[in-house]
Parts: sequence; C-alpha cells; structure tokens
Amino acid sequence: MQLLNQFLFGVYPYICLSVLALGSVIRFDREQYTWRTGSSQLLRRKQLVLGSILFHVGVLIIFGGHLFGLLTPIWVFDALGVPHGAKQILAMAAGGVAGVVCLAGGLLLLHRRLFDPRIRKNSSFGDSAILIILIAQLCLGLATIPLSAQHLDGGEMLKFMTWAQGVFTFRPDIAGLVADVHPVFKAHLVLGMTILLVFPFTRLVHMLSAPVWYLNRRGWQLVRTRRALPIRAQKAAPVYPDAPPAGRAASSSIQTAE
Ligand code: HEM
Repeated sequence: MQLLNQFLFGVYPYICLSVLALGSVIRFDREQYTWRTGSSQLLRRKQLVLGSILFHVGVLIIFGGHLFGLLTPIWVFDALGVPHGAKQILAMAAGGVAGVVCLAGGLLLLHRRLFDPRIRKNSSFGDSAILIILIAQLCLGLATIPLSAQHLDGGEMLKFMTWAQGVFTFRPDIAGLVADVHPVFKAHLVLGMTILLVFPFTRLVHMLSAPVWYLNRRGWQLVRTRRALPIRAQKAAPVYPDAPPAGRAASSSIQTAE
C-alpha cells in the first residue's frame, strides 16, 4: 500500500507531466491538422450553445482556481494576512458553484453527444470518453467539499498545496504528504493527473491554442477547385508529390491562408 502511494503521488505526477509536455509538442509539430476542437456545431446547434457556455465558464473558473489555489506559495497568503481557513472556505464556495455550473453544462453536452444519432456517428471514442472523464472528475471534486468542510482550519488544503508545489520543486518526500488523506481526495488527484496524461491525445489540446488562434483565426484552409487552372496559376500553385497531374478536372490544389 505504501509502495502504491509512493508511485501514485511521488512518481506518477512526473510521468503525466512529461507525457503532457512532450506529447503536446510532438502532436503540434506532426499533426497540426488534428489540432482542433472537432466542433459539431454544424450538425446540431441545439443544446450546444447553453451546454458549452455553462461547461466552459465553469471549467475556466475551476482551472484558474486550481492553478492559483494550489500553486501560489503559502508564504504569499501569510504575507497578505489571508487566514488558511478563509482560503479553504473560498475554494469550497467558488469551486463548488463553478463545479455545479460546469457539471450542468457537461451533462447537456454528454446527452447531446450520446443521444443525437448524427453527432454520435461523427464522434470518436476519445470525444465521448474525455467528456465522461471530466464529468467523473467534477463529481469527485464536488464530493471533496463535504470532506473539506470537516477541516475548516485549512489544514488539509495546506497538505495539497505543499504536495502540488513539491512536485514542481522536486521535493523527494511529496508522496508522504498526502498519504493519510481521504480516498476521495486521492481518487480526485489521480484522475486529475490522468487527465494531464491523456491531454495531448484528445481534443483538449485546443485549450493551448484557443486564446491565441481562435481569436484572430490564424489557420490554413485547403481549397480544391474542380476547374482546370490557367497555366500561369498552375505554375504558381505548390506541387505535391502525390497529387494527380495538374490541368485535369478536380486536380488542382491550392493551399491558401484564410
Ligand atoms: C491534476 C489535476 C487536479 C488536481 C491536483 C486537483 C486537486 C484538487 C484539490 C486538492 C481539491 C480540494 C481543494 C480543497 O477544498 O482543499 C479539489 C477540488 C475540486 N476540484 Fe480538482 N484537481 C484537479 C483537476 C480537476 C479538474 C480537471 C476538475 C474539473 C473538471 C476539478 C474539479 C474540482 C472541483 C469541482 C473541486 C471542489 C471545489 C473546490 O474545492 O475547488 N479538479 N481539486
């Protein structure tokens, strides 16, 4: 049991973070055409707008709250005079509301994905699986709230902050810091790390580029014309080794920036 704890909270975080970093760089380098949300809005707008807004608002608040709450050095809160108990209550209240909003949105999106035949047909296993994993993680997160309520002095929260910060400062004894916490917390931590592990292989990668690319739409669009191109345009068009001979119908490919 101690060995499992050592692996899950002392070694697994590094496996997940390494796969997250390397996997994302390799996918971006080799598979840029797959680096997208895989939007299904064209197939059915109903349920998407409300579900997507609720889900994204909730998840962004949770994401920001987790980053700020877990990774801000404890001395910063002490220097600002923020009592640990107050921070615990803020995490439970703000995280709880955002969690419920996110869960409502996630369930709408999951219902649409599983029960609309057109969307179901166009979804990969990964599309549905990652949504189910996120919903499970939300349920586990929400289930930690009554447990945190039993530690309103913030003592339990300090363990998680020290653990999370210890991962990034390569503290050798981090696994021991969370050895005695409730199994629901442990399950939440392990599933959270697993989400980081699978991140580069899912549509979640759009998180990394959304703020930059989606706002000013820097993308490529592959345009094929069925017309034979005039000779001058054929010469200017890029040559693809596996493309059919130029000049025939449906044979001319031009790649243009949008
Ligand atoms: C590596 C990833 C993650 C870690 C290490 C982590 C860690 C934690 C911890 C320690 C708490 C308890 C905070 C406290 O009250 O003391 C918590 C709560 C919570 N987590 Fe996570 N979490 C992760 C990912 C996620 C994800 C991906 C979601 C949602 C999609 C999520 C949703 C929640 C919710 C709703 C709560 C309860 C409200 C709150 O305290 O903020 N967590 N998480």
